[in-house]
Amino acid sequence: MELEKLFSSEKIGNVKIKNRIVRSATYTHAATDDGHVSDLLIKYHTDLAKGGVGLIITGITTIDKVGNIATGQTCLYDDSYVEGQKKLVKAVHEYSDVKIAPQLSHSGRQGRTSIAPSAITFKEGDRMPKELTNEEVKVVINNFINAGRRAYESGYDMVQLNAAHGWLLCNFLSPFTNKRSDEFGGNTQNRMRILVDIYNGIVDKVGKNFPITVKLQTQDFVEGGLTLEEGKLIAKGLVDLGFAAIEPSGGSAEIARLFRISYPAAKVQSQEDENYFLPAVKVLKPVMKDSKLILMGGVRNPLTAEKLLQENTTDFIAMSRPLICEPNLPNRWKDGDLSPPLCNSCNSCFFSTGSGSLECTVKEKLVQERLNK
Ligand SMILES: Cc1cc2nc3c(=O)[nH]c(=O)nc-3n(C[C@H](O)[C@H](O)[C@H](O)COP(=O)(O)O)c2cc1C
Repeated sequence: MELEKLFSSEKIGNVKIKNRIVRSATYTHAATDDGHVSDLLIKYHTDLAKGGVGLIITGITTIDKVGNIATGQTCLYDDSYVEGQKKLVKAVHEYSDVKIAPQLSHSGRQGRTSIAPSAITFKEGDRMPKELTNEEVKVVINNFINAGRRAYESGYDMVQLNAAHGWLLCNFLSPFTNKRSDEFGGNTQNRMRILVDIYNGIVDKVGKNFPITVKLQTQDFVEGGLTLEEGKLIAKGLVDLGFAAIEPSGGSAEIARLFRISYPAAKVQSQEDENYFLPAVKVLKPVMKDSKLILMGGVRNPLTAEKLLQENTTDFIAMSRPLICEPNLPNRWKDGDLSPPLCNSCNSCFFSTGSGSLECTVKEKLVQERLNK
């Protein structure tokens, strides 16, 4: 079989994933206005499960009220959310052997209520975030830990921390946004302490058998920001601690132009644009030990993915936009149709607004064509 490795199983921590295809976290706008699981949210995820993906990372799931980014986003900041989350997990597990993880997140400096490690203006002339006190940082850590515990109680197979894209955990990692002088700022070890404390806290609550993974900022692409060299040091520290997988990413909304080059609105319209975090994956690989690497960002060609897996460059590949357009893509590839995804990175999905919908112009066009026949 041409895609032997892509469709072979591999473990993240002690959890076996049936193939190497991960759905990269995608905010679908489909939770209820107060962050509960809706039928539409369940449908998005069961469609993915039916489509053959091995592991679904759901999407930003806020760990406290302040950390909410927008309506229609899932929440895990109190126990009332667990029942609905259980329903989502159960529905996905019912469709063959698909694994699922929520992505625990806090909006931080880019949020509607903007808080940050340091009071540094978000873009020139724009709002000033509130600097968290040392006590408040500890409250945030505790909220992440409790959300991790609720994820476990909901039946999720593992959890991913969102430490990328200019959100709160990423703000702590970056020397551009973290100028603190307490134990959460300064050198690399101090800036990554928040991740270490969250990791240890979740392990204390639920034990070591629940894999903790991270979407990790490896580069800010801004002057004075996080560089890939330091990203590698952070990755090494997290692997040594016990993080089960790392999905390298980068960029933030700080400079919109760069945000769009790096994350996630990058246009992937030629072969040269594909796999745009491959350089980061290659730099991190030597420090990974038993932890797994997930290549994300412009993954479009199944044969290239197979080659990268065969060469041991990465352990998994992840996609977001192609699976919005075609949840059935993994099965299509498995069945031998190796043509690239229909997604043309128009980014209509990324710029979808409001709750309850995720636009996809390609999908809409296909439906229209079918109706016109
Ligand atoms: C509609 C949309 C929602 C997204 N939501 C999230 C999210 O909740 N968390 C996250 O870390 N990344 C999010 N992303 C980024 C994707 O996970 C992924 O990193 C990025 O789109 C690049 O992968 P791709 O080229 O396969 O789309 C989102 C992307 C899109 C298009």
